[in-house]
Amino acid sequence: MKCFYYFKHKIRSKAPTSAPELSNPASNSDITGSNLPANSSCSTVSGRSINDLYEEKSRNLRVFSLPELRRATSDFNRLLKIGEGGFGSVYKGTIKPVDGTAEPVVVAIKKLNNDGYQGHKHWLAEVQVLSIVEHPNLVKLIGYCTLDGERGIQRLLVYEYMPNRSLDDHLFNLAYPALPWQKRLQIIYGAALGLAYLHEELEVQVIFRDFKTSNILLDEDFQPKLSDFGLSREGPTHGRTHVSTAVVGTHGYAAPDYIETGHLTARSDTWSFGVVLYEILTGRRSVERNHPRTERNLLDWVKQFPADSKRFGMIMDPRLENEYSLTAARRIAKLADSCLVKSAKDRPKMSLVAEQLKEIIQIPDNGSPNTETTDSVDNEAADFNDKKPKQNAASEQLKRRVAQLAKLSEHVDGKRKFLIMQRAKEI
Ligand SMILES: Nc1ncnc2c1ncn2[C@@H]1O[C@H](COP(=O)(O)OP(=O)(O)OP(=O)(O)O)[C@@H](O)[C@H]1O
Ligand SMILES: [Mg+2]
Repeated sequence: MKCFYYFKHKIRSKAPTSAPELSNPASNSDITGSNLPANSSCSTVSGRSINDLYEEKSRNLRVFSLPELRRATSDFNRLLKIGEGGFGSVYKGTIKPVDGTAEPVVVAIKKLNNDGYQGHKHWLAEVQVLSIVEHPNLVKLIGYCTLDGERGIQRLLVYEYMPNRSLDDHLFNLAYPALPWQKRLQIIYGAALGLAYLHEELEVQVIFRDFKTSNILLDEDFQPKLSDFGLSREGPTHGRTHVSTAVVGTHGYAAPDYIETGHLTARSDTWSFGVVLYEILTGRRSVERNHPRTERNLLDWVKQFPADSKRFGMIMDPRLENEYSLTAARRIAKLADSCLVKSAKDRPKMSLVAEQLKEIIQIPDNGSPNTETTDSVDNEAADFNDKKPKQNAASEQLKRRVAQLAKLSEHVDGKRKFLIMQRAKEI
C-alpha cells in the first residue's frame, strides 16, 4: 500500500470548504491518536472523538494550492526560511485574504519533508487537532495544502506568523538579549494554560507529546503559543488510565515512564513541563552535550542544588544578573520537582500547575530576594572553592558560566531533534 493511499483528496473546488479525510477507517485510530477503532476513540462522555469534532470544524480552514504557497514564499526562497525542525522547513510568506480586499497577511508556512506516510500522519494530526482548538496560547492554523503527485506527496501547513520566534531562541541563543525574569514567568504561565486547555477543557483530551522550548512560539507581545501538534494524540478513553503507543518525542523532555512502557497520559506532558521549568531557571538545555560530563543532563545536575538549600542560587541563569526573586525561583524549582516525580499519577495536573504559577508571578522581584541570591551564591562558591575570598567566589563562578555559555553558543544549531521511535508494548 502506498503512503498516500490513506489520504483521500477531497478538494473539488477552490472554495475553502474541504478537509482532508481518511479513506480507511482502520487507519483513523492510528492517526488521530488512539489504537482503538475510530468510533470508539473518544475521550469524553459525549462519545465524540477528535475525528468527529474535526469533521464538524474543518470548514474553518482554508485550502491553499501549491502555486499559491509558492507565490507566497517566492518559490520557497531560502532567504525566507525562518526555521527547520525534525519534520520540515518553515518559511515566512504573505497571502491574500480570502475576500481579496484587505492588506496581504504575513504567515508562516511549514513544508513537511517528503517522508511518505509518517509525514502524512504528522500533518494530519496537526490539521485535525488545530482545527478543533481555540485558545490564546495555541498557535492558529490558517489552512493547509496537500498534493499527491507522481513525484510523491506534498503536505504544507499555513499558520499565523509569530514574530518573536520561539522560547528556545530567547533562552539559549546568545544573539538575543537575555529574557528578563518576569517575561520568563509570563511565558511559562501562558504555556501552562495552553496545556491545561488541551488536557482538561476540550470535549476530547489532547496529549501534546512534544512539549519543549522550541515549540513555544512568541507573538509580538511575547505571549506564548504552543505549536507543533504533529505528535499529539487523543487521551485515554472509557475509563482507561493511558494510551498504549509507540514512543515518540524529543530526548531530554520525554517522561521516563513513557519511554520505558509506551504508556502515554496527560502527565507525560506534565513531566516535559517540569523539564522546561528548569530550563527557564537555569538558561541551560535539558541535554547539553558540550558541558562537562556531570553537567550534561540538566535534571541530574540540578539535583545537587535542592530548592531549599543554600546552594540553590548556583543553578540560576547568570544572564539574569541577579534580577529575579529567589523566593519565586525556589517555588518554581519545587513546582518543577513535583512535575518530575517518578510516578506519573502523582504529578500535578496542568490546571494546578498554572494556578501555582499565577501565584508565583505575583511575588515581587525587588527587595530581599536579590540579597538572598548573592548570599547563597557566595556560600555556594565558598563550598566549591574555599581558597578564594568569599565575595569573589560568586562573581568568578558567574564569569565561568558566562564564558561557558558563550562557548556553547558557537555549537548551537537548530537541529537537536531526536525522535525516539520504539515500538511500544501493547496493553
Ligand atoms: N508560526 C510560526 N511563526 C514564526 N516562526 C515559526 C512558526 N512556526 C515555526 N517557526 C519557526 O520555525 C522554527 C522551526 O519550527 P519547527 O516546529 O519546524 O521545528 P522545531 O520546533 O525547532 O523542532 P521540532 O521539529 O523538533 O519540533 C521554530 O523554532 C520557529 O523559530
Ligand atoms: Mg517545533
